[in-house]
Amino acid sequence: MQTQHLEVHDLYQLWADGYDEPVNPLVKAEEKTLGRLAFDVVGKKILDVGCGTGRHTIRLAQAGAEVTGVDFSDKMLAVARKKAEGLQVRFVQADLRSIPIDESFDMVTCNLVLNHVEDLHAAIREISRLAKTGGRILISDMRSDHWWCTKKRIRILPDFTTSGFRHRQADYKAAFAAAGLKLDLRKKIYVSCATASGLRRKLLLKFFAAGYIFELTKR
Ligand SMILES: C[S@@+](CC[C@H](N)C(=O)[O-])C[C@H]1O[C@@H](n2cnc3c(N)ncnc32)[C@H](O)[C@@H]1O
Repeated sequence: MQTQHLEVHDLYQLWADGYDEPVNPLVKAEEKTLGRLAFDVVGKKILDVGCGTGRHTIRLAQAGAEVTGVDFSDKMLAVARKKAEGLQVRFVQADLRSIPIDESFDMVTCNLVLNHVEDLHAAIREISRLAKTGGRILISDMRSDHWWCTKKRIRILPDFTTSGFRHRQADYKAAFAAAGLKLDLRKKIYVSCATASGLRRKLLLKFFAAGYIFELTKR
């Protein structure tokens, strides 16, 4: 079958029901590292930008936070809503480049999303706007110069590509500084190379981080 290119929104509409299974190795590795950072959240107001099927939204709500999840895919949100039944979570369907919320949050998270957004500065500005002064921001992203990405495309499903943009470390740092965010910690995410096929891929995974996590404070 020929690879088909889909817009980001359409790809997640198609993927929503299968997104949580089987667990993707990058997602698993990110969760392990990020989970350790998102502690002490009881009673905190948290915004999860690009929340998808609620992987972090639900974990944070179960840990006692008051969470709002934002995503532009109603199908991803429908899966999240079902998983969040009985929990105190609010979901908002919106594009993260212009979030219709006029409140500020103790913590804003945005996980594995920004590689889909071309204008990194605009996205980080919006994330910063929604954080309180002194608030925490946790951002994780896949490193988009691995073999699964070409210059403006990412293959995240076997038969489909979607838009993916190469944001380098320097691009992130510039966007953080411009949005008034202080970078406190940067962690690399390494994915297990056991499942990769071929020596080149195994070596790439062993020696090159597959993603990053940034922990920041709003000045
Ligand atoms: C790889 S999933 C990550 C979902 C979730 N954050 C997680 O870590 O499991 C990317 C999510 O970002 C959402 N997304 C991508 N671009 C977006 C945009 N411009 N506005 C809102 N949501 C967006 C997609 O709909 C999808 O749910």
